[in-house]
This record gives sequence, C-alpha cells and structure tokens, in this order.
Amino acid sequence: MSQEQWNSKVGFIFAAAGSAIGLGAIWKFPYVAGTGGGGAFFLVFLLFTLLLGAPLLLGEFVIGRKSQSDAVTAYQKLAPNSYWGIVGKLGVVTCFILLSFYSVVGGWIILYLFEAIRGGLNGLSPEQFGSLFGEMISNPLPTLLAQFLFIVMTILVVAKGVQQGIEKASKIMMPALFILFLLLVFRSISLEGASEGITFFLYPDFTKLTSEIILLALGQAFFTLSLGVSAMVTYASYLPKTHNLPKSVFSIIFMNIFIVLLAGLAIFPGVFSFGMEPDAGPVLIFSVLPAVFSQMQFGMVFFIAFLLLFLFAALTSAFSMVEIIVAAMTRKDQSKRKKVTWTVGILIFIVGIPSCLSYGVLSDVLVFNVTIFDLFDFAVSNVFIPLGALLISIFIPLKLSKRELMEEIALGSQKRKIFFSVWYYLLKYFTPAAIVLVFMDVLGVL
Ligand code: PFF
Repeated sequence: MSQEQWNSKVGFIFAAAGSAIGLGAIWKFPYVAGTGGGGAFFLVFLLFTLLLGAPLLLGEFVIGRKSQSDAVTAYQKLAPNSYWGIVGKLGVVTCFILLSFYSVVGGWIILYLFEAIRGGLNGLSPEQFGSLFGEMISNPLPTLLAQFLFIVMTILVVAKGVQQGIEKASKIMMPALFILFLLLVFRSISLEGASEGITFFLYPDFTKLTSEIILLALGQAFFTLSLGVSAMVTYASYLPKTHNLPKSVFSIIFMNIFIVLLAGLAIFPGVFSFGMEPDAGPVLIFSVLPAVFSQMQFGMVFFIAFLLLFLFAALTSAFSMVEIIVAAMTRKDQSKRKKVTWTVGILIFIVGIPSCLSYGVLSDVLVFNVTIFDLFDFAVSNVFIPLGALLISIFIPLKLSKRELMEEIALGSQKRKIFFSVWYYLLKYFTPAAIVLVFMDVLGVL
C-alpha cells in the first residue's frame, strides 16, 4: 500500500488553496460581513487570519507531513497511547456535517447555472434576480437533485484519488477565477453610488462590533482556511519531506485574503448601488452578482463563466472534506476507497436533506430559533471548527518538541529562527488564549 503523493509543488499549493478558497470566501464571507457591519468585521477577520490562522495552518501542515498519516492516525502516531486521536475524529464528524449543508449551496450554483444557460436570467431587474432565486431554492425537487449532483461530482473525483483528480484542473481554473473576479470588481466599483459600498466594506465602524460578531469573524477566518478539522493535516500528509512548508503557508494566506477582498469589492458596491440590503443573508451574492454582471456587455456570458468557476471552487473545497473522511476510514487501503467514498457521499446527502428543505417546505421548522440549515452552519463554523483549532494549537507544543518542529519546518539560519519563535509562541499562547477569550465573551463569562 504505497503512500500517494502530490505530483508537483504547485500541485499541492493549488490543492490546498483549492480547499481553502470556496464558498467560505465567495458566498459566506460577504453575507456574514454584510450582517456583521462590514469594515469592522473585515478587519477583525484579517487579524484572526494573520495571527491565528497562518500559524495554525503551518501547524496542521507540520502534523500531516511529519506523521504522513490521515487525520485520526496522525494524532495517534505523534502521541501514542493517548486520547488525542479524538481531534481527528472531531474533524471527520465536522466535515461530514459541513458537507451536508455546503452541498446545498453547491446545488444552488448548479441550478442557477442551468437557469442562466436556459436564458431565464436575461433582462431581469436587480430586484427580480433576488425573487427568482428565492423561488428557485424553495422548490424541493430541483434543489435536492442539484445537491445530489454536487455530491456525486465530488465523489467521482475523490473515489479516483484526490491527487490525480484535482491537481491539473486547479492549475487552470484558479487563475481563471481570479481574472474573472478582477473584471467583476472593476465593473462593480464603477457603478453609480459604488463608493458607499466600498466605505461599508473597508471602513471599520467599531461601534458595530459585538461579542457575537467577533466570534463570527473567528469562525470565518478558520473556515475560509479549512482549519480546525485536519483537512490541511490530510493534504500535507501527501507531501514529500523536501517541500518548504512556510512558503506554502504564505501563498495560501495571500491568495485567500486576496479573494476575500475581491469578493467584498465585487459585492458591496453593487449592493449599495442597486439599493439592496447588505444583511440579506445566505442569498446575498445570488441576487447581487447577476445584477452587477447584467450591467456589462455580454454580462450573462460572463456570469455563466463565473458560475462555472464558482462551482469549481466549491467542488475543490468539497473534495477536501470528503478526502479527510475517506482517508481516515480507509487508512491507506486503496482497495476500499471507492466503496467508502460512495457510502460516505450518500450518507452525507441524506443528512443534508433537511438543510436543503430549510429554504422551502421546512422553512418554518426552527431549532434554537433558527432553521436547520443555519443551525448546522452555526455549529460547524462557530463551535466545532474553533474547538478543533483550539485542540490542535494545544496539541502541537504539548506533544512535539521544539527540535522536532524546527526540523520539520527545516529552518536553520538565524533569521529563520526568529520566524520560528514568532510562529511557536503565537501558536502556543496567543491562539488558544484568543479562542478561549472569544468563547467566554460570547457565553457572557467575561
Ligand atoms: N475553506 C472552505 C471554504 O472556505 O469554502 C471550507 C472548508 C473546506 C472548511 C474544507 C473545512 C474543510 F475541511
């Protein structure tokens, strides 16, 4: 049973960036920032990304590369005869629940794509996009079918082995996504009244910061980087020892922040220019973006291209969720991969049905005052993921010596030693302290 490996350095970076960049940056970030007051949320998100997210990303890479194992075995291998394997198991369960609602939104993209290709979006006014989309996602059969299709596409790739499935495609699609986004930003910021949206997004109004918004920003920072669930542990386990981990961290963090910035600049100017509300929730980008595109020459053609790339970005993230689960269940026994992947996929679809129907027949079913979709989303993004991140940040300095860590990161020179110390102390003290404080603040203990 040989260990699979990435074919190239870029292949790994694109795959890890592909896991990071997905619905989190393009769909979730704008709507959470929209409800969370804009600029202040963005700033706190940036701080969390740089001070907590980046160190943790390197930490997950180290665990994966050092152990060369799946999410559960990795912790057991590095801390034998302990309960630390639970961190990997928590990641597996989190990814399972995560994909159950992530696939719902993946399905929405597919439905919108069909609608756009059919010509159903031609000539609509900005308000009409919103109502058409609302109607579309409340229809149970098509949404369930689309969700199923999204899961099947994911399974087909993961069943083949992620390395072969995604490396090649990512190299073309990711740069294309960046280019299309840039185009969109140019159109959006030149709309009439765009400056109000830019101010909303980039000017931090700290009066809007509440404990809950800080928690949302924390969850968002980890979510967009696929942290806390050992996704990056799993991906880094397919890396050869020669790969420079800090460099990959820099590229991924940079790309991630860049795409979040582009998403914000593409959406908020449009929101204000068309007189829409920034706090429309999960449907926000689906009503705003087609409206911005429709202001361009050949707008719908570009919108279709955008939806395709958006779908691809969502899929590359979904691959990593399934890969964690499958890698942990097959433990490198490739003969089981196909069967396990299909079984997991079907189960995720079944668990995801209530989330899918949350926008239609089950919209009145509320648990803790929110729909099932929102409940799953909140639990994953703001409880399970930060909890996983907390445990990982405790695990690394506790179970791995400084020497081992330095070796894994391959740092020798003096300058690099300073980098190492900054990383180590941020991870050992700052990350767990910040997460605990944010939790305590929200629970009102502080
Ligand atoms: N980072 C992905 C996104 O922003 O869409 C979400 C994600 C993928 C989270 C994979 C966790 C994960 F394991």
